[in-house]
Amino acid sequence: MGRPKITVVGAGNVGATCAHWAAARDLADVVLVDVVEGMPQGKSLDLMQARPIFGFNVDVVGANDYEATKGSKVVIITAGIPRKPGMSREDLINTNKNIVATVTKEIAARSPNAFIIVVANPLDAMCYVAYKVSGFPRKRVMGMAGILDTARYRCFIAMELKVAVEEVQAMVLGGHGDDMVPVVSATNISGVPLTSLLSKKRIQALVERTRKGGGEIVALLKTGSAFYAPAAAAVQMAEAILKDQKRLVPVSAYLTGEYGLNDLYFGVPVILGAGGIEKIIPLKLTKEEEAMLQKSAAAVAKTRDDLKM
Ligand code: NAI
Ligand code: 2OP
Repeated sequence: MGRPKITVVGAGNVGATCAHWAAARDLADVVLVDVVEGMPQGKSLDLMQARPIFGFNVDVVGANDYEATKGSKVVIITAGIPRKPGMSREDLINTNKNIVATVTKEIAARSPNAFIIVVANPLDAMCYVAYKVSGFPRKRVMGMAGILDTARYRCFIAMELKVAVEEVQAMVLGGHGDDMVPVVSATNISGVPLTSLLSKKRIQALVERTRKGGGEIVALLKTGSAFYAPAAAAVQMAEAILKDQKRLVPVSAYLTGEYGLNDLYFGVPVILGAGGIEKIIPLKLTKEEEAMLQKSAAAVAKTRDDLKM
């Protein structure tokens, strides 16, 4: 049996941080793959040397090919280029489409039973590429965005109200773009509705900050995009699958009629467990939220069409 194996493809900012979070949590052995020679091996060795200090025991190995990835239970795809200031996630489409398609082929050939968690942008479109190229069932191919976007929203609310982040329950749905939908009607602080604690204007400001949350960090970093919280979110998804946690979280899932949408990867609430996406959960939205969700879906559908797949 042995320990389960997580492969992380792309050992850049997000990928290396995924390996870091997963190893520090003793979650699974990790294989870190990148095209840059020596880099994934060096980062892996460095992480291995942190084991005696933090007391974790999983193995982390780096590679420039896919031999060591055989039989992975979960594969996180972060390979691709990130945004620079002024770039939208959609600007990345052609480069990352080719990268994600190549990586998916390699993964599917060696780990035919794996769960694929896509991180590369534009997220919902890259999930579509991985789904089509892998030929895996939809419950095993999903995208990380909603957990990150929701974490940003929860963080901003907690900062504003000066309450513990754990008390803030919320959900951000839709595409991973500036039209994403923080669901205000489903936001509460330990059961107390957000709308009873903050003015409409303040809530709108937090919603806007959430939507532009990725861009805010790109503008500060100048040479790349966020990675600590994105990697934490991807590892939470891997953990939910490996430990059959049955978490109810927003995930980019392939829709076949749910939320009135078809043939589209889109952020919706799901139950995430040992079967991957075990169920897609319907959520009652206000009229205004429903309209925002449809607007986001139209933007995601356009990017999917641009893939020409
Ligand atoms: P990065 O540039 O630090 O790392 C990307 C790595 O991918 C590089 O080390 C590069 O050598 C590697 N790579 C490129 N082509 C490859 C291939 N064919 N096979 C294996 N490795 C390959 O970028 P970062 O910051 O790690 O971001 C990675 C991706 O994740 C970007 O597309 C970014 O936009 C996206 N992202 C998505 C988020 C989300 O919420 N879904 C959040 C944060 C980032
Ligand atoms: C983020 O939301 C850029 O998608 C990346 O941070």
